[in-house]
Amino acid sequence: MQGPRPTEPPDRPPSERIVEALAGIVGADRVLTEATDRAPYETDWRGKYHGRCLAVVQPGSNAEVAKVVAYCSRHGVPIVPQGGNTGLCAGATPDDSGTQIVLTLQRLRQLRSLDAEDGHITCGAGMPLAEAQAHAEAAGMLLPLSIASEGTATIGGVVSTNAGGLNVLHYGSARQLLLGIEAVLPDGSVVSRLTPLRKDNTGYDLTSLLAGSEGTLGIVTAATLSLSPRPVGYTTFLAGLADVGQARATLRAVRTLTASPVTSWELFSEVSAELLVTPPMATTLPLEGPHAWYLLGELSHFGEPADILDDLAEILVEHDIEDVVVATSAQQRADLWAIREDITEAERAAGPTIKHDISVAPSQIDSFIETLLAACRDLDDTIRLNIFGHVGDGNLHINVLPRERGQELPEADQARVSTCIYDLTRDAGGSFSAEHGIGQQKIAQMARYKSGAEIGMMRRLKASLDPTGIMNPGKVLP
Ligand code: MLT
Ligand code: ZN
Repeated sequence: MQGPRPTEPPDRPPSERIVEALAGIVGADRVLTEATDRAPYETDWRGKYHGRCLAVVQPGSNAEVAKVVAYCSRHGVPIVPQGGNTGLCAGATPDDSGTQIVLTLQRLRQLRSLDAEDGHITCGAGMPLAEAQAHAEAAGMLLPLSIASEGTATIGGVVSTNAGGLNVLHYGSARQLLLGIEAVLPDGSVVSRLTPLRKDNTGYDLTSLLAGSEGTLGIVTAATLSLSPRPVGYTTFLAGLADVGQARATLRAVRTLTASPVTSWELFSEVSAELLVTPPMATTLPLEGPHAWYLLGELSHFGEPADILDDLAEILVEHDIEDVVVATSAQQRADLWAIREDITEAERAAGPTIKHDISVAPSQIDSFIETLLAACRDLDDTIRLNIFGHVGDGNLHINVLPRERGQELPEADQARVSTCIYDLTRDAGGSFSAEHGIGQQKIAQMARYKSGAEIGMMRRLKASLDPTGIMNPGKVLP
Protein backbone atom coordinates (compact mmCIF):
# COMPACT_ATOMS: atom_id res chain seq x y z
CA MET A 1 0.00 0.00 0.00
CA GLN A 2 3.03 2.24 0.24
CA GLY A 3 3.58 4.92 -2.37
CA PRO A 4 5.70 8.05 -2.60
CA ARG A 5 4.93 10.67 0.04
CA PRO A 6 4.15 14.23 -1.08
CA THR A 7 7.15 16.52 -1.07
CA GLU A 8 7.13 19.40 1.44
CA PRO A 9 5.02 22.31 0.23
CA PRO A 10 6.80 25.63 -0.17
CA ASP A 11 6.56 28.26 2.58
CA ARG A 12 3.05 29.57 2.75
CA PRO A 13 2.46 33.33 2.78
CA PRO A 14 0.16 34.85 5.43
CA SER A 15 -3.57 34.51 4.70
CA GLU A 16 -4.09 38.22 3.79
CA ARG A 17 -1.34 37.99 1.19
CA ILE A 18 -2.91 34.88 -0.34
CA VAL A 19 -6.33 36.55 -0.53
CA GLU A 20 -4.77 39.66 -2.06
CA ALA A 21 -2.93 37.63 -4.69
CA LEU A 22 -6.06 35.64 -5.61
CA ALA A 23 -8.05 38.88 -5.85
CA GLY A 24 -5.38 40.15 -8.24
CA ILE A 25 -6.19 37.21 -10.53
CA VAL A 26 -9.99 36.95 -10.39
CA GLY A 27 -11.05 40.35 -8.98
CA ALA A 28 -11.68 41.28 -5.33
CA ASP A 29 -15.44 40.62 -5.56
CA ARG A 30 -14.73 37.07 -6.71
CA VAL A 31 -12.83 36.07 -3.58
CA LEU A 32 -15.35 35.45 -0.80
CA THR A 33 -13.92 35.63 2.69
CA GLU A 34 -16.95 36.56 4.84
CA ALA A 35 -18.33 33.61 6.82
CA THR A 36 -21.88 34.07 5.49
CA ASP A 37 -20.65 34.14 1.87
CA ARG A 38 -18.46 31.10 2.37
CA ALA A 39 -21.06 29.07 4.25
CA PRO A 40 -22.93 27.46 1.29
CA TYR A 41 -19.60 26.18 -0.09
CA GLU A 42 -18.40 24.77 3.23
CA THR A 43 -21.12 22.19 3.83
CA ASP A 44 -22.06 19.24 1.66
CA TRP A 45 -25.56 18.82 0.17
CA ARG A 46 -26.60 16.43 2.92
CA GLY A 47 -25.51 18.84 5.64
CA LYS A 48 -23.39 16.08 7.11
CA TYR A 49 -19.88 17.39 6.48
CA HIS A 50 -18.83 20.89 7.50
CA GLY A 51 -15.55 22.64 6.82
CA ARG A 52 -14.06 26.10 7.02
CA CYS A 53 -12.04 27.51 4.16
CA LEU A 54 -9.77 30.52 3.83
CA ALA A 55 -11.77 31.82 0.88
CA VAL A 56 -14.07 30.81 -1.95
CA VAL A 57 -12.54 31.76 -5.28
CA GLN A 58 -14.76 32.20 -8.33
CA PRO A 59 -12.66 32.30 -11.51
CA GLY A 60 -14.46 33.25 -14.72
CA SER A 61 -12.34 31.42 -17.31
CA ASN A 62 -10.04 28.46 -17.63
CA ALA A 63 -7.14 30.91 -17.92
CA GLU A 64 -8.05 32.32 -14.50
CA VAL A 65 -8.35 28.81 -13.08
CA ALA A 66 -4.85 28.07 -14.39
CA LYS A 67 -3.44 31.23 -12.81
CA VAL A 68 -5.09 30.50 -9.45
CA VAL A 69 -3.74 26.95 -9.47
CA ALA A 70 -0.26 28.07 -10.50
CA TYR A 71 -0.23 30.55 -7.60
CA CYS A 72 -1.48 27.93 -5.13
CA SER A 73 1.07 25.44 -6.38
CA ARG A 74 3.93 27.89 -5.88
CA HIS A 75 2.77 28.82 -2.39
CA GLY A 76 1.44 25.54 -1.04
CA VAL A 77 -2.22 26.56 -0.81
CA PRO A 78 -4.53 23.51 -0.94
CA ILE A 79 -7.46 23.71 -3.38
CA VAL A 80 -10.88 22.06 -3.11
CA PRO A 81 -12.61 22.23 -6.52
CA GLN A 82 -16.39 22.48 -6.42
CA GLY A 83 -19.20 22.34 -8.99
CA GLY A 84 -22.87 22.27 -8.00
CA ASN A 85 -22.04 20.84 -4.55
CA THR A 86 -24.57 18.02 -4.89
CA GLY A 87 -22.11 15.14 -4.32
CA LEU A 88 -23.02 12.47 -1.80
CA CYS A 89 -19.50 11.67 -0.47
CA ALA A 90 -18.38 15.19 0.52
CA GLY A 91 -15.65 15.25 -2.13
CA ALA A 92 -16.09 19.01 -2.58
CA THR A 93 -16.20 20.03 1.08
CA PRO A 94 -13.07 21.62 2.58
CA ASP A 95 -11.56 20.48 5.87
CA ASP A 96 -11.91 22.71 8.93
CA SER A 97 -8.34 24.03 9.00
CA GLY A 98 -9.21 27.37 7.40
CA THR A 99 -6.16 26.98 5.14
CA GLN A 100 -7.79 25.54 1.99
CA ILE A 101 -9.50 27.51 -0.73
CA VAL A 102 -12.68 26.34 -2.40
CA LEU A 103 -12.40 26.94 -6.14
CA THR A 104 -15.88 27.00 -7.63
CA LEU A 105 -16.27 26.37 -11.34
CA GLN A 106 -19.80 27.81 -11.43
CA ARG A 107 -18.91 30.76 -13.67
CA LEU A 108 -17.51 28.52 -16.40
CA ARG A 109 -20.91 27.68 -17.82
CA GLN A 110 -20.61 28.49 -21.49
CA LEU A 111 -21.68 26.19 -24.32
CA ARG A 112 -18.49 25.87 -26.34
CA SER A 113 -19.86 23.79 -29.24
CA LEU A 114 -22.53 21.30 -30.22
CA ASP A 115 -22.48 19.08 -33.28
CA ALA A 116 -25.68 17.14 -33.93
CA GLU A 117 -24.23 15.30 -36.93
CA ASP A 118 -21.19 13.88 -35.15
CA GLY A 119 -23.09 13.76 -31.86
CA HIS A 120 -21.16 15.71 -29.27
CA ILE A 121 -21.43 18.71 -26.98
CA THR A 122 -18.64 20.69 -25.33
CA CYS A 123 -19.51 22.68 -22.22
CA GLY A 124 -17.73 24.62 -19.54
CA ALA A 125 -17.38 22.75 -16.27
CA GLY A 126 -19.88 24.95 -14.45
CA MET A 127 -22.82 24.36 -16.78
CA PRO A 128 -25.61 22.54 -14.92
CA LEU A 129 -26.24 19.10 -16.39
CA ALA A 130 -29.90 19.96 -17.08
CA GLU A 131 -28.82 22.97 -19.15
CA ALA A 132 -26.51 20.77 -21.24
CA GLN A 133 -29.41 18.31 -21.72
CA ALA A 134 -31.61 21.21 -22.88
CA HIS A 135 -29.00 22.32 -25.43
CA ALA A 136 -28.86 18.76 -26.76
CA GLU A 137 -32.65 18.58 -26.93
CA ALA A 138 -32.86 21.88 -28.84
CA ALA A 139 -30.56 20.30 -31.43
CA GLY A 140 -32.77 17.20 -31.62
CA MET A 141 -30.26 15.08 -29.69
CA LEU A 142 -30.06 13.40 -26.29
CA LEU A 143 -27.44 13.82 -23.58
CA PRO A 144 -28.32 10.58 -21.82
CA LEU A 145 -26.63 11.18 -18.47
CA SER A 146 -29.49 11.68 -16.01
CA ILE A 147 -29.33 12.05 -12.24
CA ALA A 148 -31.87 13.36 -9.73
CA SER A 149 -29.75 16.44 -8.96
CA GLU A 150 -29.22 17.39 -12.63
CA GLY A 151 -30.73 20.88 -12.17
CA THR A 152 -27.80 21.83 -9.92
CA ALA A 153 -25.06 19.26 -10.58
CA THR A 154 -22.53 20.56 -13.09
CA ILE A 155 -20.73 19.05 -16.06
CA GLY A 156 -17.37 19.35 -14.29
CA GLY A 157 -18.81 17.67 -11.21
CA VAL A 158 -20.42 14.75 -13.01
CA VAL A 159 -17.24 14.13 -15.00
CA SER A 160 -14.91 14.49 -11.98
CA THR A 161 -17.01 12.04 -9.95
CA ASN A 162 -17.86 9.76 -12.89
CA ALA A 163 -21.55 10.07 -12.02
CA GLY A 164 -23.95 7.29 -13.03
CA GLY A 165 -27.68 7.69 -12.62
CA LEU A 166 -30.87 6.50 -14.21
CA ASN A 167 -29.76 5.52 -17.72
CA VAL A 168 -26.46 3.76 -17.13
CA LEU A 169 -28.02 0.41 -18.06
CA HIS A 170 -28.04 1.44 -21.72
CA TYR A 171 -25.79 4.48 -22.08
CA GLY A 172 -23.09 4.04 -19.41
CA SER A 173 -21.72 6.37 -16.73
CA ALA A 174 -20.13 9.79 -17.31
CA ARG A 175 -16.78 8.19 -18.13
CA GLN A 176 -18.29 6.19 -20.99
CA LEU A 177 -19.91 9.33 -22.43
CA LEU A 178 -16.77 11.40 -22.15
CA LEU A 179 -14.93 12.03 -25.41
CA GLY A 180 -12.62 14.87 -24.46
CA ILE A 181 -11.54 16.98 -21.54
CA GLU A 182 -9.87 20.25 -20.66
CA ALA A 183 -8.21 20.34 -17.27
CA VAL A 184 -5.82 22.43 -15.23
CA LEU A 185 -3.14 20.25 -13.68
CA PRO A 186 -1.74 20.86 -10.19
CA ASP A 187 1.21 22.89 -11.53
CA GLY A 188 -1.13 25.26 -13.37
CA SER A 189 -0.50 23.79 -16.83
CA VAL A 190 -3.51 23.15 -19.04
CA VAL A 191 -4.29 19.87 -20.80
CA SER A 192 -6.70 20.58 -23.60
CA ARG A 193 -8.10 17.47 -25.24
CA LEU A 194 -11.58 18.62 -26.18
CA THR A 195 -11.63 16.14 -29.01
CA PRO A 196 -14.87 14.73 -30.38
CA LEU A 197 -13.05 11.71 -31.82
CA ARG A 198 -14.58 8.33 -31.06
CA LYS A 199 -11.31 6.61 -31.81
CA ASP A 200 -8.00 7.98 -30.60
CA ASN A 201 -5.59 5.30 -29.53
CA THR A 202 -2.54 7.38 -28.73
CA GLY A 203 -1.18 6.11 -25.46
CA TYR A 204 -2.44 6.54 -21.91
CA ASP A 205 -6.09 7.46 -21.60
CA LEU A 206 -5.70 10.77 -19.77
CA THR A 207 -9.34 11.72 -20.26
CA SER A 208 -10.52 8.61 -18.43
CA LEU A 209 -7.89 9.08 -15.75
CA LEU A 210 -9.21 12.54 -14.87
CA ALA A 211 -12.82 11.32 -14.91
CA GLY A 212 -13.60 10.00 -11.44
CA SER A 213 -10.40 11.43 -9.95
CA GLU A 214 -12.55 13.86 -7.94
CA GLY A 215 -10.23 16.81 -8.35
CA THR A 216 -7.22 15.04 -6.86
CA LEU A 217 -5.21 15.07 -10.09
CA GLY A 218 -6.44 18.30 -11.67
CA ILE A 219 -9.46 20.51 -12.19
CA VAL A 220 -11.82 19.79 -15.09
CA THR A 221 -12.66 23.09 -16.77
CA ALA A 222 -14.58 21.78 -19.81
CA ALA A 223 -15.69 18.47 -21.27
CA THR A 224 -16.87 17.02 -24.57
CA LEU A 225 -19.66 14.49 -24.11
CA SER A 226 -21.19 12.12 -26.55
CA LEU A 227 -24.79 12.73 -27.68
CA SER A 228 -27.24 10.07 -28.87
CA PRO A 229 -30.23 10.20 -31.17
CA ARG A 230 -33.40 11.17 -29.30
CA PRO A 231 -35.92 8.40 -28.81
CA VAL A 232 -39.21 8.98 -30.65
CA GLY A 233 -41.13 7.58 -27.71
CA TYR A 234 -40.94 5.70 -24.44
CA THR A 235 -42.77 2.91 -22.69
CA THR A 236 -42.56 3.72 -19.00
CA PHE A 237 -44.27 1.79 -16.24
CA LEU A 238 -44.41 1.44 -12.47
CA ALA A 239 -45.21 -1.95 -11.00
CA GLY A 240 -45.61 -3.47 -7.55
CA LEU A 241 -43.47 -6.57 -6.84
CA ALA A 242 -43.45 -9.19 -4.12
CA ASP A 243 -39.74 -9.90 -4.48
CA VAL A 244 -36.60 -8.63 -6.17
CA GLY A 245 -36.24 -11.77 -8.30
CA GLN A 246 -39.20 -10.52 -10.35
CA ALA A 247 -37.22 -7.42 -11.33
CA ARG A 248 -34.31 -9.53 -12.56
CA ALA A 249 -36.42 -12.09 -14.43
CA THR A 250 -38.64 -9.52 -16.15
CA LEU A 251 -35.65 -7.50 -17.33
CA ARG A 252 -34.33 -10.58 -19.07
CA ALA A 253 -37.68 -11.29 -20.72
CA VAL A 254 -38.45 -7.70 -21.72
CA ARG A 255 -35.06 -7.36 -23.38
CA THR A 256 -36.00 -10.02 -25.93
CA LEU A 257 -39.35 -8.37 -26.67
CA THR A 258 -38.38 -5.66 -29.11
CA ALA A 259 -35.40 -3.93 -30.66
CA SER A 260 -36.19 -0.97 -28.39
CA PRO A 261 -33.54 -0.93 -25.66
CA VAL A 262 -34.43 -1.06 -21.99
CA THR A 263 -32.87 2.21 -20.85
CA SER A 264 -33.86 2.16 -17.16
CA TRP A 265 -34.76 -0.56 -14.65
CA GLU A 266 -35.13 1.01 -11.25
CA LEU A 267 -36.12 -0.63 -8.00
CA PHE A 268 -37.32 0.79 -4.71
CA SER A 269 -38.52 -0.80 -1.51
CA GLU A 270 -41.56 -0.39 0.72
CA VAL A 271 -39.35 1.73 2.99
CA SER A 272 -38.68 4.16 0.10
CA ALA A 273 -42.42 4.21 -0.60
CA GLU A 274 -43.19 5.03 3.02
CA LEU A 275 -40.66 7.89 3.01
CA LEU A 276 -42.21 9.24 -0.20
CA VAL A 277 -45.72 9.47 1.23
CA THR A 278 -44.70 10.81 4.67
CA PRO A 279 -44.87 14.62 5.14
CA PRO A 280 -43.18 16.87 4.17
CA MET A 281 -43.23 14.67 1.04
CA ALA A 282 -46.61 14.40 -0.61
CA THR A 283 -46.18 11.65 -3.18
CA THR A 284 -49.12 9.52 -4.22
CA LEU A 285 -48.24 6.10 -5.58
CA PRO A 286 -50.55 5.41 -8.52
CA LEU A 287 -50.91 1.70 -7.69
CA GLU A 288 -53.51 -0.27 -5.80
CA GLY A 289 -51.45 -2.16 -3.35
CA PRO A 290 -48.83 -1.56 -0.88
CA HIS A 291 -46.03 -3.82 -2.11
CA ALA A 292 -42.72 -5.03 -0.76
CA TRP A 293 -40.92 -3.65 -3.82
CA TYR A 294 -41.59 -1.31 -6.73
CA LEU A 295 -40.10 -1.35 -10.22
CA LEU A 296 -39.90 1.59 -12.60
CA GLY A 297 -39.01 0.35 -16.07
CA GLU A 298 -38.49 2.26 -19.28
CA LEU A 299 -37.86 1.26 -22.89
CA SER A 300 -36.80 3.89 -25.41
CA HIS A 301 -38.11 3.64 -28.96
CA PHE A 302 -36.15 4.71 -31.99
CA GLY A 303 -37.63 4.69 -35.51
CA GLU A 304 -41.31 3.68 -35.48
CA PRO A 305 -42.78 3.71 -31.96
CA ALA A 306 -43.08 0.05 -31.07
CA ASP A 307 -46.47 -1.20 -29.91
CA ILE A 308 -45.39 -3.54 -27.16
CA LEU A 309 -47.98 -3.00 -24.47
CA ASP A 310 -49.77 -6.35 -24.86
CA ASP A 311 -46.49 -8.27 -24.88
CA LEU A 312 -45.18 -6.32 -21.93
CA ALA A 313 -48.39 -6.98 -19.97
CA GLU A 314 -48.08 -10.68 -20.77
CA ILE A 315 -44.51 -10.84 -19.47
CA LEU A 316 -45.44 -9.04 -16.27
CA VAL A 317 -48.45 -11.30 -15.64
CA GLU A 318 -46.32 -14.38 -16.36
CA HIS A 319 -44.07 -13.19 -13.55
CA ASP A 320 -47.03 -12.61 -11.19
CA ILE A 321 -46.89 -8.85 -11.51
CA GLU A 322 -50.44 -7.54 -11.75
CA ASP A 323 -50.47 -4.10 -10.19
CA VAL A 324 -48.97 -1.97 -12.96
CA VAL A 325 -49.46 1.51 -14.35
CA VAL A 326 -48.11 2.43 -17.79
CA ALA A 327 -47.59 6.10 -18.65
CA THR A 328 -49.87 7.20 -21.46
CA SER A 329 -48.64 10.78 -21.75
CA ALA A 330 -45.43 12.74 -21.36
CA GLN A 331 -46.86 14.20 -18.15
CA GLN A 332 -47.57 10.77 -16.69
CA ARG A 333 -44.08 9.63 -17.60
CA ALA A 334 -42.64 12.69 -15.83
CA ASP A 335 -44.86 11.97 -12.80
CA LEU A 336 -43.60 8.39 -12.56
CA TRP A 337 -40.02 9.56 -12.80
CA ALA A 338 -40.62 12.21 -10.13
CA ILE A 339 -41.53 9.42 -7.70
CA ARG A 340 -38.23 7.67 -8.26
CA GLU A 341 -36.17 10.86 -8.31
CA ASP A 342 -37.69 12.14 -5.05
CA ILE A 343 -36.45 9.23 -2.94
CA THR A 344 -33.19 10.95 -1.97
CA GLU A 345 -35.05 14.12 -0.98
CA ALA A 346 -37.58 12.04 1.02
CA GLU A 347 -34.71 10.30 2.77
CA ARG A 348 -33.01 13.60 3.60
CA ALA A 349 -36.26 14.79 5.21
CA ALA A 350 -36.21 11.72 7.50
CA GLY A 351 -32.95 12.77 9.15
CA PRO A 352 -29.30 11.78 9.01
CA THR A 353 -28.93 8.47 7.19
CA ILE A 354 -25.90 6.35 6.38
CA LYS A 355 -25.59 5.90 2.64
CA HIS A 356 -24.11 2.93 0.84
CA ASP A 357 -23.73 2.91 -2.93
CA ILE A 358 -22.71 -0.59 -3.89
CA SER A 359 -22.75 -2.72 -7.02
CA VAL A 360 -22.85 -6.46 -7.63
CA ALA A 361 -23.39 -8.46 -10.81
CA PRO A 362 -27.05 -7.92 -11.80
CA SER A 363 -27.63 -11.68 -11.82
CA GLN A 364 -26.76 -11.79 -8.09
CA ILE A 365 -28.99 -8.97 -7.01
CA ASP A 366 -31.85 -10.92 -5.43
CA SER A 367 -29.68 -13.42 -3.56
CA PHE A 368 -27.48 -10.54 -2.41
CA ILE A 369 -30.43 -8.59 -1.01
CA GLU A 370 -31.78 -11.69 0.72
CA THR A 371 -28.43 -12.36 2.44
CA LEU A 372 -28.06 -8.71 3.31
CA LEU A 373 -31.49 -8.37 4.89
CA ALA A 374 -30.94 -11.48 6.99
CA ALA A 375 -27.48 -10.34 8.11
CA CYS A 376 -28.67 -6.86 9.05
CA ARG A 377 -31.64 -8.30 10.95
CA ASP A 378 -29.27 -10.51 12.95
CA LEU A 379 -27.02 -7.55 13.62
CA ASP A 380 -29.71 -5.16 14.81
CA ASP A 381 -33.40 -5.70 14.23
CA THR A 382 -34.30 -2.10 15.01
CA ILE A 383 -32.54 -0.50 12.04
CA ARG A 384 -34.39 0.09 8.80
CA LEU A 385 -32.83 -0.11 5.37
CA ASN A 386 -33.99 2.12 2.54
CA ILE A 387 -32.95 -0.04 -0.42
CA PHE A 388 -33.39 1.37 -3.90
CA GLY A 389 -31.45 1.98 -7.05
CA HIS A 390 -30.43 0.96 -10.49
CA VAL A 391 -31.24 -2.73 -10.26
CA GLY A 392 -30.76 -3.29 -13.99
CA ASP A 393 -27.05 -2.50 -13.81
CA GLY A 394 -26.52 -4.01 -10.34
CA ASN A 395 -26.14 -0.72 -8.43
CA LEU A 396 -28.07 -0.49 -5.16
CA HIS A 397 -28.34 2.24 -2.57
CA ILE A 398 -28.63 0.63 0.84
CA ASN A 399 -29.26 3.53 3.14
CA VAL A 400 -29.64 3.01 6.86
CA LEU A 401 -32.38 5.08 8.44
CA PRO A 402 -32.34 6.36 11.99
CA ARG A 403 -34.50 4.39 14.43
CA GLU A 404 -36.56 7.51 15.09
CA ARG A 405 -37.09 10.17 12.42
CA GLY A 406 -34.49 12.90 12.79
CA GLN A 407 -32.29 10.96 15.22
CA GLU A 408 -28.77 9.88 14.37
CA LEU A 409 -27.71 6.25 14.75
CA PRO A 410 -24.88 5.96 17.35
CA GLU A 411 -21.48 5.91 15.67
CA ALA A 412 -20.58 2.41 16.82
CA ASP A 413 -23.81 1.06 15.31
CA GLN A 414 -23.15 2.93 12.06
CA ALA A 415 -19.73 1.34 11.78
CA ARG A 416 -21.04 -2.17 12.49
CA VAL A 417 -23.83 -1.91 9.92
CA SER A 418 -21.59 -0.38 7.26
CA THR A 419 -18.91 -3.02 7.71
CA CYS A 420 -21.55 -5.73 7.45
CA ILE A 421 -22.93 -4.26 4.20
CA TYR A 422 -19.51 -3.70 2.65
CA ASP A 423 -18.11 -7.09 3.69
CA LEU A 424 -21.11 -8.83 2.12
CA THR A 425 -20.63 -6.73 -1.02
CA ARG A 426 -16.99 -7.76 -1.21
CA ASP A 427 -17.91 -11.41 -0.63
CA ALA A 428 -20.35 -11.14 -3.56
CA GLY A 429 -17.54 -9.80 -5.78
CA GLY A 430 -19.05 -6.29 -5.75
CA SER A 431 -17.81 -2.73 -5.32
CA PHE A 432 -18.18 -0.47 -2.29
CA SER A 433 -18.66 2.57 -4.52
CA ALA A 434 -20.64 2.23 -7.72
CA GLU A 435 -21.48 5.76 -8.81
CA HIS A 436 -21.05 8.28 -5.99
CA GLY A 437 -17.26 8.12 -5.76
CA ILE A 438 -15.09 8.21 -2.63
CA GLY A 439 -14.79 11.83 -1.53
CA GLN A 440 -13.95 11.94 2.18
CA GLN A 441 -16.75 9.60 3.15
CA LYS A 442 -15.26 6.35 1.89
CA ILE A 443 -11.57 6.78 2.67
CA ALA A 444 -11.67 4.00 5.25
CA GLN A 445 -13.32 1.65 2.74
CA MET A 446 -10.61 2.43 0.17
CA ALA A 447 -8.04 1.24 2.70
CA ARG A 448 -10.07 -1.85 3.62
CA TYR A 449 -11.37 -3.07 0.26
CA LYS A 450 -9.09 -1.75 -2.50
CA SER A 451 -5.98 -3.80 -3.15
CA GLY A 452 -2.62 -2.54 -1.94
CA ALA A 453 -1.25 -2.71 -5.48
CA GLU A 454 -4.01 -0.47 -6.80
CA ILE A 455 -3.67 2.04 -3.97
CA GLY A 456 0.10 2.05 -4.54
CA MET A 457 -0.38 2.80 -8.24
CA MET A 458 -2.86 5.56 -7.46
CA ARG A 459 -0.44 7.08 -4.96
CA ARG A 460 2.39 7.06 -7.50
CA LEU A 461 0.18 8.78 -10.07
CA LYS A 462 -0.92 11.34 -7.50
CA ALA A 463 2.65 12.03 -6.38
CA SER A 464 3.95 12.52 -9.90
CA LEU A 465 1.16 14.91 -10.94
CA ASP A 466 0.68 16.66 -7.60
CA PRO A 467 4.00 16.36 -5.71
CA THR A 468 3.06 18.90 -3.02
CA GLY A 469 -0.43 17.43 -2.56
CA ILE A 470 -2.39 20.66 -3.07
CA MET A 471 -5.23 19.17 -5.13
CA ASN A 472 -8.23 18.23 -3.00
CA PRO A 473 -6.21 16.80 -0.13
CA GLY A 474 -7.89 14.25 2.12
CA LYS A 475 -10.14 12.95 -0.67
CA VAL A 476 -10.09 9.60 -2.49
CA LEU A 477 -6.69 8.34 -1.28
CA PRO A 478 -6.37 6.79 2.18
C1 MLT B 1 -30.16 7.99 -6.58
O1 MLT B 1 -30.00 7.03 -7.33
O2 MLT B 1 -31.26 8.56 -6.49
C2 MLT B 1 -28.99 8.49 -5.76
O3 MLT B 1 -27.82 8.15 -6.43
C3 MLT B 1 -28.97 7.76 -4.45
C4 MLT B 1 -28.86 8.27 -3.08
O4 MLT B 1 -29.34 9.35 -2.74
O5 MLT B 1 -28.33 7.52 -2.19
ZN1 ZN C 1 -28.15 6.33 -7.74
